[in-house]
Amino acid sequence: MTNVTIIGAQWGDEGKGKVVDWLASRADIVVRFQGGHNAGHTLVVGDQTYKLSLLPSGLVRGKMGVIGNGVVVDPFALLAEIGRVSAQGLKVSPETLRIADNAPLILPVHAALDAAREAARGARKIGTTGRGIGPAYEDKVARRAIRICDLAEPETLDAKLDELLLHHNTLLRGLGAPEFAKADLMAQLLDLAPKLLPYAEPVWERLNEAKASGAKILFEGAQAVMLDVDHGTYPFVTSSNTVAGNAAAGSGLGPDAVGRVLGIAKAYCTRVGSGPFPTELFDEIGQQLGERGHEFGTVTGRKRRCGWFDAAMVRQAVKVGGIQGLALTKLDVLDGQTELKLCVGYDINGQHYKHLPAGVAAQAAAKPIYEVLEGWSSSTRGARSWAQLPAAAIKYVKRIEELVEAPVTLLSTSPERDDTILMQDPFAG
Ligand code: IMP
Repeated sequence: MTNVTIIGAQWGDEGKGKVVDWLASRADIVVRFQGGHNAGHTLVVGDQTYKLSLLPSGLVRGKMGVIGNGVVVDPFALLAEIGRVSAQGLKVSPETLRIADNAPLILPVHAALDAAREAARGARKIGTTGRGIGPAYEDKVARRAIRICDLAEPETLDAKLDELLLHHNTLLRGLGAPEFAKADLMAQLLDLAPKLLPYAEPVWERLNEAKASGAKILFEGAQAVMLDVDHGTYPFVTSSNTVAGNAAAGSGLGPDAVGRVLGIAKAYCTRVGSGPFPTELFDEIGQQLGERGHEFGTVTGRKRRCGWFDAAMVRQAVKVGGIQGLALTKLDVLDGQTELKLCVGYDINGQHYKHLPAGVAAQAAAKPIYEVLEGWSSSTRGARSWAQLPAAAIKYVKRIEELVEAPVTLLSTSPERDDTILMQDPFAG
């Protein structure tokens, strides 16, 4: 048995929730290692639908949830989410949820700066979730973040707030946005302390012990490789490393703990927010994919942009993300299309590229080079074995495997948990 790390292989929203939920039910501990409440996983369990942003999905299955140091934690959002799921009957307590004491906090100043900056960018905006993720990570790297452990030290908070507000109020003033008062923030933090500190601990210790005892750990990635701050379509990315390697650094374990890396990809492609999307469809087919796939963001409710499967991009995600197997989701959304297109590379100003180059102008100019495959008219919805799939659908999946240079180890054919074709158990290594 090995640990498993799940990451998105496109631009997020690949349907991780269902796969994470299935794997979480077989894991002992589920760990979030990056991102924050910009993520959104929808989990359907029995007659309950849970919408999780910050909480590790395993909690829904009664498994220990850990929020690692690589996550930026909005304490208000966390407490509100705990309140919401508790009202649905889920038990979340310091016995079931542990949070790294060295995790940085997202404070109201961060969301305010996120919004003010996006407004100032105008047409060049990134299209962030507006949750303050970027500014919070900036503060962490700039060594002025307030971390959960600081809540236990009022004198530390006092000094850190001075530094934090000197920085943020200067920027907010420059951007014409309202400034923050130290006394208000201090009062909020002191009020939060007794609510949050019971969850805080050095989670690296717990996780190292769990690893030594042979417990199965599931690392639950948020966002996706093409939103990775280094490897994604920069600057239209999130502010953390979303690749599997960060599961170790973001939770306090060595790189050998990452285990088997499963990438999740939709059988087509979507993106929310701004940025390059070479295979984006502006026609009726794009519209159909959006409607059939219910492509609206879990966190912000924004309409997702839709397009053909970009095999060149997923191949890149497989390489830089360390993906060993792919879970392909929402195959059924393609039912009824007469032909399907797979992007196998790009034409950029007359030159052929096998991958998306790093330059902003080059990415914006990338025109997809397509391979056309036959579609299928019968339904794949709810299929639970290869035998239930039409030949053209099998051909489509097999061609994806070849192009992205990774095996499809799991195929999902509806939102229902059991409508899954499993080729290989990731925990089996
Ligand atoms: P931020 O993470 O809020 O700073 O947003 C940066 C970019 O990442 C924007 O394009 C967002 O739409 C995108 N993004 C952030 N989180 C998610 C997610 O969970 N799914 C899909 N896109 C996301």
